[in-house]
Parts: sequence; structure tokens; C-alpha cells
Amino acid sequence: MRIGIIGAGFVGQAIAKLAGANGHEVMISNSRGPDTLFSVRSALGCAAGTAAEAAAFGDIVVFAVPLKAYRSIPAGLLAGKIVIDTNNYYPERDGTIEELDRQQTTTSELLAAHLPQSRVVKAFNAIVMADVAKDGRPSGATDRRALPIAGDDADAKATVARLTGQFGFDVVDAGPLSEGWRFERARPAYCMRLNRAELERMLAATTRDAFVEEGAWRK
Ligand SMILES: NC(=O)c1ccc[n+]([C@@H]2O[C@H](COP(=O)([O-])OP(=O)(O)OC[C@H]3O[C@@H](n4cnc5c(N)ncnc54)[C@H](OP(=O)(O)O)[C@@H]3O)[C@@H](O)[C@H]2O)c1
Repeated sequence: MRIGIIGAGFVGQAIAKLAGANGHEVMISNSRGPDTLFSVRSALGCAAGTAAEAAAFGDIVVFAVPLKAYRSIPAGLLAGKIVIDTNNYYPERDGTIEELDRQQTTTSELLAAHLPQSRVVKAFNAIVMADVAKDGRPSGATDRRALPIAGDDADAKATVARLTGQFGFDVVDAGPLSEGWRFERARPAYCMRLNRAELERMLAATTRDAFVEEGAWRK
């Protein structure tokens, strides 16, 4: 597949590397333009372009910019695309978003509302990028880690689940985007190393008031 990546930070680079290693064609981008990605492009062995070029390039487009910047990506660029939403909400970085604080919506529903012609799948938000490169295991391994996804389009979710499997992870489908709160930042399953059965149980048991201590997932 061709995978376009908007955002060339920790997430964009980690996913670009895994996608390339699994035989996909990758184009990465940032806000400052491809000239600023000269070394990154060489190190990852991928193409670099503008955000618009990466969006046009991808069958799948990975949305890996900080949440505060999501509206700066024009929706038209991503019309008709499967968009992987890796975002998490950090108020100290992104500013206060009251609908999220009041749990009236989820981060991925915000993005989906901004991208009405795209098929948004929430994925890869609940793993620290330092782990994404080293925790993958072959299918059937007893210690294979599972990652949660959510989305409103079954075909798009199946495509993202296959990609996640190639990267070495089982997948647990948490349901539509409206259920994505179950694995947002600071929820019990967030960035936890769990197998499929453990993750299924934890997502099902997560209640609206269940949060872990800030930063617990980095310990
Ligand atoms: N780091 C992790 O382990 C991790 C894990 C899971 C999820 N997440 C979440 O994933 C998202 C990305 O995180 P990150 O750690 O990769 O962030 P990061 O290292 O700060 O990188 C952000 C990237 O987004 C680019 N960007 C910002 N605005 C843009 C725009 N308008 N157009 C194109 N590119 C733009 C930046 O490019 P410039 O430098 O050119 O501005 C930069 O390359 C965040 O919501 C984060 O919370 C992070």
C-alpha cells in the first residue's frame, strides 16, 4: 500500500519506519516542507513531500500532528481517504477543549467532524512510540501485544487492523469512534502492554470515571 504521513515527529517517523520495513511505500511530511526532512527521508528510506502531497499519495494517511493543529489540515486533502488518527489530548500542549473535558465527544470524533469525507480510524494512539518498534511479535506468539482501534467504517477498520497485524500486534476493536474514549490518554488501557484477552477485558471494564495517574504509562 501507499501510506502518506502528515507529521514527522515521534509518531510519523516510527510508523514510517515500520511501514517501510513491511514493504509499503511511504511519503512523510511536516509543517515546514520536505527540505527540512532531508535527513529523515534518507534515514527512513521513504519519500518526503508537503502535507498535501503526502495526503494525495496515501491509500491510507496517518494523521500524526499534535491535536491542537488538526484543523490546520484542509479536509479536502483527505477526502475519500482512510485516515489513521494517532492523536491524544494534552491540555497543556493543545489548550483546553471543553467538549473533551466534559466527555461530550472524543478526540477522534473531533477529527472525524473536521474530515466528513474521510474514513477515520483511531489507532496507534495507545502505545508509546519507543515500544511500537520493539514490541511487535509474529502472529500467534504467546506474548503478542494487542492494540485497540475504533472507527465507524468496517472496511477501513479491517484495513487498519491488517496493517497493525503486519506491524506485529493483535487488534481489539473497541467499536465506533464514540467508544474511543475507552483508550484515550490516561484511561486504564492506555499504553499498557496487554494481550488480546486482557485488552478486551480492560476496555469492557473501563468506566467513564476511570483514569490512571498522569504519566503512569511511562513507568
Ligand atoms: N510520541 C508518542 O509516543 C505518541 C504515541 C501515541 C500518540 N501520540 C500522539 O500523536 C500525535 C503526534 O505526536 P508526536 O509525538 O509525533 O508529535 P511531535 O513529535 O511533536 O511531532 C509533530 C509533527 O507534526 C508536524 N505538524 C504540526 N503541524 C503540522 C501541520 N499543520 N501540517 C503538517 N505537519 C504538522 C510537525 O512538523 P513541524 O515540526 O514541521 O512543525 C511535527 O513533525 C500527538 O497527538 C501525540 O499526543 C504520541
